[in-house]
Amino acid sequence: MKILIVGGGGREHAIIMKLAESPKATELYCAPGNGGISRYAKCFDVKATDIPGMVELAKQLQPDLVVVAPDDPLVLGMVDAMQAEGFKTFGPKANAAIIEGSKIFSKELMKKYQIPTGAYEVFTDSESAIAYIKNQNSYPTVIKADGLALGKGVILAQNEEEAISAIREMIDDKKFGESSSRIVIEEFLTGPEVSVLSFTDGKTVIPMISSMDHKRALDNDEGLNTGGMGTVAPNPYYTEEIAQECMTKIFQPTIEAMQKEGRPFTGCLYFGLMLTENGAKVIEYNCRFGDPETQVVLPLLDTDLVDIMLAVYDGTLAELLVNWKKENAACVVLASGGYPVKYESGKVISGLDEKGQVSNAFVYHAGTKFEENQFLTAGGRVLGVTATADTLEQALAQAYQSAEQITFDKIHYRHDIGQRALRAKQG
Ligand code: AMP
Ligand code: GLY
Repeated sequence: MKILIVGGGGREHAIIMKLAESPKATELYCAPGNGGISRYAKCFDVKATDIPGMVELAKQLQPDLVVVAPDDPLVLGMVDAMQAEGFKTFGPKANAAIIEGSKIFSKELMKKYQIPTGAYEVFTDSESAIAYIKNQNSYPTVIKADGLALGKGVILAQNEEEAISAIREMIDDKKFGESSSRIVIEEFLTGPEVSVLSFTDGKTVIPMISSMDHKRALDNDEGLNTGGMGTVAPNPYYTEEIAQECMTKIFQPTIEAMQKEGRPFTGCLYFGLMLTENGAKVIEYNCRFGDPETQVVLPLLDTDLVDIMLAVYDGTLAELLVNWKKENAACVVLASGGYPVKYESGKVISGLDEKGQVSNAFVYHAGTKFEENQFLTAGGRVLGVTATADTLEQALAQAYQSAEQITFDKIHYRHDIGQRALRAKQG
């Protein structure tokens, strides 16, 4: 089978490496890809959001399967466009991707179908929003742009001043354009966070191994929110009992709700959960694999990913057994200094072999270019160094030892990935 993967980050690299294990996958293509991906799949210079350009590329390549990985092309309807041309495509159509594309849609869905989530109100004008937070007078409070905002649309306001400035920036100054013309003000939830990705064909939902992201830029969860600075899997807070509760109260009800709304969700549905004192609650849905969750989840998958993706497309997921390795995985993200705000690119990366790898771990490339036989940085998150081992301690030690072999100017990474998970394990 010829397979085309849309996207160009660490997540896509992880999807490609898992697909490459399948005897069915004979040719792998990626657009736009990156320097590291280009060592394993043929890359094409088409932007992930360029729907007509991507359909044109598919017409040239004639792939037997297309995998659309990032949020924006999904929300923009790339799966619809591919399927209209007869290409088998993994991922939700636009009318289902809205579960991530509009926070208001997802909150209303959860309210209607009694899926546990934080209390919220929707606002379209800043004066009523400000009156509401003044009246509520409880901090922290959570302010979210309705639409996609490059992962920056969530503000945890610590006081009235921060809340007002977030509201004004979003609604009045249109910080995220139309995405923030409507906002959600949400109850602040506390507890350990868990990411659960799942495969679903619209009827059956199969959760993957749970994981834990580390969203803040600096150690001890300080600094700004990022796309994710590291992950571990499985997540020790996510016990068998909680998994059962999530299946009956969240996962299955969400799939049924989307079905009933005439928006069957097929592909990978990501549940961002908070394990509160009052049970697991949904913080957010994503219509796609998480990044860098995928980099620790897929290495533990023990079933052919091509078979799973085809079953998702064919609606036959109920007939498939999905197995997981009884191991632990850890991913440490090596970022450009200054990320997520301002950073430089084009720095020479040293320590990688010709495939972009080091010993004892797998390096998923997030933002790299391969030029004149060397790898250069080309983004905020540059590499995700991932190790699997019998224990989490070993996986972390291996990932960090391998990360130390890599250098580039102004490299930055967290040194405490997995520490919270280790503490949870110890009791
Ligand atoms: P998101 O961009 O939706 O992934 O949100 C970023 C982060 O904000 C989440 O991972 C949580 O840590 C935090 N967050 C979002 N919603 C809430 C909430 N209602 N209460 C507490 N923290 C939240
Ligand atoms: N790591 C969080 C996300 O992919 O949205």
